[in-house]
Amino acid sequence: MSKDKQLRLEADQNTAKHKSIVEQDPYRLHYHIMPPVGLLNDPNGFIQWKGTYHLFYQWMPFKTGHGAKFWGHYSSQDFVHWKHEEIALTPSEWYEKNGCYSGSAIEHDGKLYVFYTGNVKDDNGNRESYQCLAISEDGIHFEKKGPVIERLEGYTAHFRDPKVWEQDGQYFMVIGAQTKGLKGAVVLFQSENLVDWTHAGILTGGGEGILKEFGYMFECPDLFYLDGKDILVFSPQGLEPEGMKYQNVYQAGYVTGTFDPSSGTFEHGAFHELDHGFDFYAPQTTKDKKGRRILFAWMSVPDQNEQDHPTIKHQWLHNMTIPRELKCIGGKLYQVPVRELEGLRVNEAVEHRVELQQKNQQFEGVRGKAVELLAEDIIVSKGWFDISVGEAARMVYSSEQKIFTLERQSYVDGVVEKRHCRLDDLNNLHIFVDTSSIEVFINDGEHVFTSRFYPSPDNESIQFGASEKSCFTIKKWDLTRIF
Ligand code: FRU
Repeated sequence: MSKDKQLRLEADQNTAKHKSIVEQDPYRLHYHIMPPVGLLNDPNGFIQWKGTYHLFYQWMPFKTGHGAKFWGHYSSQDFVHWKHEEIALTPSEWYEKNGCYSGSAIEHDGKLYVFYTGNVKDDNGNRESYQCLAISEDGIHFEKKGPVIERLEGYTAHFRDPKVWEQDGQYFMVIGAQTKGLKGAVVLFQSENLVDWTHAGILTGGGEGILKEFGYMFECPDLFYLDGKDILVFSPQGLEPEGMKYQNVYQAGYVTGTFDPSSGTFEHGAFHELDHGFDFYAPQTTKDKKGRRILFAWMSVPDQNEQDHPTIKHQWLHNMTIPRELKCIGGKLYQVPVRELEGLRVNEAVEHRVELQQKNQQFEGVRGKAVELLAEDIIVSKGWFDISVGEAARMVYSSEQKIFTLERQSYVDGVVEKRHCRLDDLNNLHIFVDTSSIEVFINDGEHVFTSRFYPSPDNESIQFGASEKSCFTIKKWDLTRIF
């Protein structure tokens, strides 16, 4: 049997073996993409191809830890219903034997081309990496073409995560890299045919320019044009916490500027985090046929207490965010849940206009474990306003300090931990809760907090409080179970 066949068989067997224990987990999500078993990390190869959305993902089907990754595959027509397709890539060849690492997809001549990193380790743990190509005619079965780019001089083997796009009749690729001087960098390649690639310089980092001292590795770069700006999204590693910023082990964010395809240069401004919550990393975007720029991210962070998640005893770990549409307004990226997610709603909204000046208030019908909440026309003229979900997550806005906070009970030791952002005024909150995940979109998506949290499974309460008179309208929908 070929190595590829054998790996597929073993992955299928392991999925079948653990299906029932996975499904018995009360923290299994209802409408977020998860692995059927084992560990999921980065979104990969996200594309709308021949009408269908394809989302591939980093998958370790044999354990709830990292290792020789596969490309798992989900497809959807509408971002609501997802089909788990057969495995797209297994780490079966010499140039990827320790993992088919992250990458991207592009359409060419009616075929689906995917670029990914072949990760290779020798017996002494030395790493090598190859940027590889695989081509599909049906979007399901891939023919591997092997490495198309080898590592450059001047970089360590942390050279990965190719993202490809077309511009002005040429193809470009960005790669996340680490220089031999241990600086994070984004490297640019250019091609006429997607097979032969030429190095076109450093796009940013590498110990030069505005990101000169900015960590030791940039992962998962993604460069795209949106609303008049060129935007580079990437995940830097090695930043120190700075006030409210950079509180997680690693970050994910963006810079905006102008990319010149003829010279391969990118003039850009300062780095902004995309999310203020505890669990957000390695985002990847695509432009769909409606012209929308849509993002998925991994709802976790590498090396951040991953082994303490309670889902591990049910043999699975991690999930994607909901899909979000990006807009660039005044040089800032806004994120809003894609419109299609209204298709998850199972009932008409429960709605209340509320005036509140007490703690721990509940409103009829406003409860549940998989819900969408929309708080609008919020007026907090003095003091603080809060919303608690289960007993394990709380959002607080202090109108005096002008700070928005997300608190959660740590799944490691139960202690309350906090993330913050500055917020001059709180106007609206759009919140997606899904058994053990919460995504909070503030003021039409200007700020976002994304996190896992673990309330007692039978606690479906949602409570509101205010220290002084506060007003708002609250709408709530129950969301259906897809998975
Ligand atoms: C980011 C990352 C990528 C790599 C992949 C491996 O989370 O480390 O840089 O390609 O995960 O699973």
